[in-house]
Amino acid sequence: MGEDWSRWLDEAPVAGDSVSQSVRSEAPVARLRGDDNGSGGQRSILVVGGCGGAGTTTTVLGIAGEFAGEGRPTVAVDATSAGSDLALRGADEHLHPVSLQSWLYGRGDDEPAPLRECLSRATSGIGLLWRDAEPLRRRATYLTVARAVRDAGYTAVYDGGHPIAARQLLPLLADADVALVLAIPARNDAANRLRVALEWLDDQFGDPVDRRGGGIVGEVTIVVSHQYPDQDIRVAEHLREHLSGWVRDIEEIPYDSHLARGELVRHASLAPETRRAYRRLLTGVAS
Ligand SMILES: Nc1ncnc2c1ncn2[C@@H]1O[C@H](COP(=O)(O)OP(=O)(O)OP(=O)(O)O)[C@@H](O)[C@H]1O
Ligand SMILES: [Mg+2]
Repeated sequence: MGEDWSRWLDEAPVAGDSVSQSVRSEAPVARLRGDDNGSGGQRSILVVGGCGGAGTTTTVLGIAGEFAGEGRPTVAVDATSAGSDLALRGADEHLHPVSLQSWLYGRGDDEPAPLRECLSRATSGIGLLWRDAEPLRRRATYLTVARAVRDAGYTAVYDGGHPIAARQLLPLLADADVALVLAIPARNDAANRLRVALEWLDDQFGDPVDRRGGGIVGEVTIVVSHQYPDQDIRVAEHLREHLSGWVRDIEEIPYDSHLARGELVRHASLAPETRRAYRRLLTGVAS
């Protein structure tokens, strides 16, 4: 076992503490970094929910929208096991009938079809790939998806849904070129449940010689979404107090009345403050 995360709510870590005084019983899975991620040095981003309704899909659309605003080819990819509402919520320009699976199997010769022709579209400039509930066939995984997206010259922002331990996410989690964002709503119970996800990450991908702020947990950015107006919830403050130095960053997305409708998201209709928050998040995560 690595660090005992069960202490984090009660005790702020002390500077200089080592997280690795105990030795793991199993060798951890190393996160591998490729030589070239093929998209101009830009890392892909995986957003996963610490619980259901965490703001995962909204965060994917927000980050991707800001990224596309820089003129970069960006695709929001549904990486849930059974298909999420990513494209239904994000494709405010055109919902394409081609799914991720049909794109990936292409014309039956295991070569993906041209990505550009298979994407749903948002007015923010992003492309979207929705998936259906059928498992990926012919030994394809999200590693296959990631390679094909990269080869097509796009940077991916993945909607990993919930939970983080879902099997289809493993190839993305194992890739050190994929930046990690953990989303939670601004609720105390969600902040407490975050611990399970961080513990799991540390167990699966942690490094026994990494110290505080190192290893996979040190690469995680936490996003706290305020989904209700006029709520004085200090979840992010609490997390900053207890997790600063352990995780990479903690960002907040303010309450936005456009997002609160739960309907089609039009990036241009977001409040300037919301867009600034997504931009800050993107800058911190992608660097
Ligand atoms: N900043 C915000 N302001 C107002 N409402 C928000 C905000 N962020 C998210 N919401 C709302 O909270 C709800 C949950 O958000 P979202 O669908 O992004 O979460 P999710 O983690 O993808 O959920 P699911 O588990 O269904 O996949 C949605 O109805 C969304 O519109
Ligand atoms: Mg979702």
